[in-house]
Amino acid sequence: SKKWVLMATARSPTNIAVIKYWGKRDETLILPVNGSISVTLEPSHLSATTTVAVSPSFDRDRMWLNGKEILLSGGRYQSCLREIRRRAEDVKDEERGICIKREDWEGLHVHIASFNNFPTAAGLASSAAGFACLGNVTLFMCSFCPCKLMNVKEETTELSSIARQGSGSACRSLYGGFVKWAMGNKEDGSDSIAVQLANETHWEDLVILIAVVCSRQKETSSTTGMRESVETSSLLQYRSQVVVPRRLIQMEEAIQKRDFPSFAKLTCADSNQFHSVCLDTSPPIFYMNDTSHRHVQLCFLIYCIYVHGEIRLIIGLVERWNQFEGTPQVAYTYDAGPNAVLIAPNRKVARLLLQRMLFYFPPPSEKELDSYVLGDTSILQ
Ligand code: PMV
Repeated sequence: SKKWVLMATARSPTNIAVIKYWGKRDETLILPVNGSISVTLEPSHLSATTTVAVSPSFDRDRMWLNGKEILLSGGRYQSCLREIRRRAEDVKDEERGICIKREDWEGLHVHIASFNNFPTAAGLASSAAGFACLGNVTLFMCSFCPCKLMNVKEETTELSSIARQGSGSACRSLYGGFVKWAMGNKEDGSDSIAVQLANETHWEDLVILIAVVCSRQKETSSTTGMRESVETSSLLQYRSQVVVPRRLIQMEEAIQKRDFPSFAKLTCADSNQFHSVCLDTSPPIFYMNDTSHRHVQLCFLIYCIYVHGEIRLIIGLVERWNQFEGTPQVAYTYDAGPNAVLIAPNRKVARLLLQRMLFYFPPPSEKELDSYVLGDTSILQ
């Protein structure tokens, strides 16, 4: 019968890189030119929730992002779905008399609906959450089959590699806490996988604050930007071969020891070098300039607020503060979009940071303020 529909829902958090991934050595398999390290946010703070339905009555794959249908033709969604179908197993729902053989998956179409619980127009790392979620869809295809209830670790590695083929950074969202995406060196990508360096509870005091420019998406997509940097930037060659391998070791050590000054220095330096690579690309890419003179929204892991301000003024503020104290108080890092991520060692410094932010970059209006509080406001108390 053509009447049945199977559905599953998964939620995946986004992650913020402290040692950046920038540049692919293989664009199809999405293999990076260097390893990277990130911190995964709490799913309840910034995440994507994706529901997938499969039914013989669907005549094509379709996807809706925040309620709006998007084109699925070609590209990374299709690679992701192809990878998922390739791994799909027999599925039996005895209660409803549904039986799908693994070879049937090729001919079945899916409908996918994904929602972000944060403002998408802000250009936050929504693709990481989105594709990690799509990776999770495999669980839906396999979970009805008891023989597939295999070792969880093995399963997460598989999911991570599917997510990677949607968006590189997404492979890091399959784990909580601190995660390293090893670049690997095999041609088939089998060793280019994410591993958890430390779990969510390892460095619980850290507070992450995200300053989001709400007005528009980045101008150069990360795919185009990376391609152009790989082709034209000699700084990227130096960075990927000499600087990052060293920094990955130092960053792992800083995380293991919860050494905030080293963590902050490495995080800021790596963000600044990533943006220098963008500037060293021909034609140059100005991600940080995109943020000038726009409204900035600050969103704590647990609190979210609007302020007026320029991203570069925020860097200046943090740098002056760190210099004044003689040791790093706060770290900043910027992705390929108009959002600043600020990391404080504890709630006390986070509170001070927020007060300073609000002093220098006051919120535009009460109304906007109210509409973007993401929940718990205890950070201010
Ligand atoms: O995963 P992509 O293709 O959206 O690339 C993300 C690249 C950066 O966010 C700039 C860095 C990173 O490591 O996440």
